[in-house]
Amino acid sequence: MEVKELKQAFAEAYKNEAEKVYFAPGRVNLIGEHTDYNGGHVFPCALSFGTYLLLSKNDVQQVRFKSLNMPEIIGLNLDELTTPLPNNSWVNYPLGCIAQYIKRGFSLTQGYDILIWGNVPAGAGLSSSAALEVVTACAFNDIFGAGYDRTELAKIGQLSEHEFAGVNCGIMDQFASAQGAQDHAIYLDCATLEFELVPVKLEGVKVVISNTHSPHKLDSGAYNDRVAQCTLAVNQLRTVKPELKNLAELSEAEFNQIKSAITDPIALKRAEHVVGECQRTIDAVAALKAGNIELFGQLMCQSHVSLRDNYEVTGLHLDTLAEEAWKVDGVIGSRMTGGGFGGCTVSLVKDEAIADFIEKVGAAYEAKTGIKADFYVAEIGQGVHVVE
Ligand code: GLA
Repeated sequence: MEVKELKQAFAEAYKNEAEKVYFAPGRVNLIGEHTDYNGGHVFPCALSFGTYLLLSKNDVQQVRFKSLNMPEIIGLNLDELTTPLPNNSWVNYPLGCIAQYIKRGFSLTQGYDILIWGNVPAGAGLSSSAALEVVTACAFNDIFGAGYDRTELAKIGQLSEHEFAGVNCGIMDQFASAQGAQDHAIYLDCATLEFELVPVKLEGVKVVISNTHSPHKLDSGAYNDRVAQCTLAVNQLRTVKPELKNLAELSEAEFNQIKSAITDPIALKRAEHVVGECQRTIDAVAALKAGNIELFGQLMCQSHVSLRDNYEVTGLHLDTLAEEAWKVDGVIGSRMTGGGFGGCTVSLVKDEAIADFIEKVGAAYEAKTGIKADFYVAEIGQGVHVVE
């Protein structure tokens, strides 16, 4: 939808003109999966699709929310903005961000009307929820005059996800949505939140996203279990290395020396993945900077294997897309991206091989799963911003 149409929809819903329009993108992660909440590096890019938020003041002393994907308008009084709504309402994502401002001492003295529309494919693991959180955090940063920087907006989004959606996520998705830059990936150290923008305009190669359309999406239970298993691994390693804070602090060599302290076999597998993935991410970014895209691709494939065998967050759909991609000439690398279970893979594919890739991987995937996959050539866009 065009911004003009969104403004018309706003006027129809609220009988009032939108005063401001904001946009925040979804993301795709190139490498560094399940490393963020372990203090490691990640390497995501913001996408050109994301979530729009339109708003204006109203005179009803309520914040009213409408999504163009839902029939109803949900109105909340100004003293009802700090408690999540029941039944996993979508409103909890923006509401959780407003609640963070109120917790920090800001208060609303007047109502606002909000209209949301997004074009991130739903349930695809491309962070539509982070986009919704970050776009809300940005709009209310202006309303409250809080003056927060983009990193702070990402933190507000992450806290909303923890407290209002019940997912103990890391910072990657919200950070990418807040700090993304066109044609760049974000090399983020999740322990310090220092980051570097690395160009990913690749000569003759595109980033292709393949959507499993798989019904299993990452539920908060399976995700929070992984977070807890990593915490258990750290706690057990502390019996031999008391100062350890995060798995990412360990080199592979040091981990191998002390890993017998992890007595829980599941926690051990999870830690194996994290320690290896942290190193792969550092190596992959170094390879990209050195122009060694082939090595980058090999590390992507190793990342997938580790997420499949040690972290156990892939499954038939993601494995089929990645493993079929590996067979196609001109595919430099392919792996699952995001939290896992369903959602998308990300692949680096030579320009001349893209048509063949889509045809072969699409056909093999449909034959195996009965589902038609979707393929998008990723456009790497800008982080959260005011549209008008
Ligand atoms: C989800 C979470 C992120 C990150 C990824 C896995 O997208 O929201 O914080 O942990 O999974 O890398």
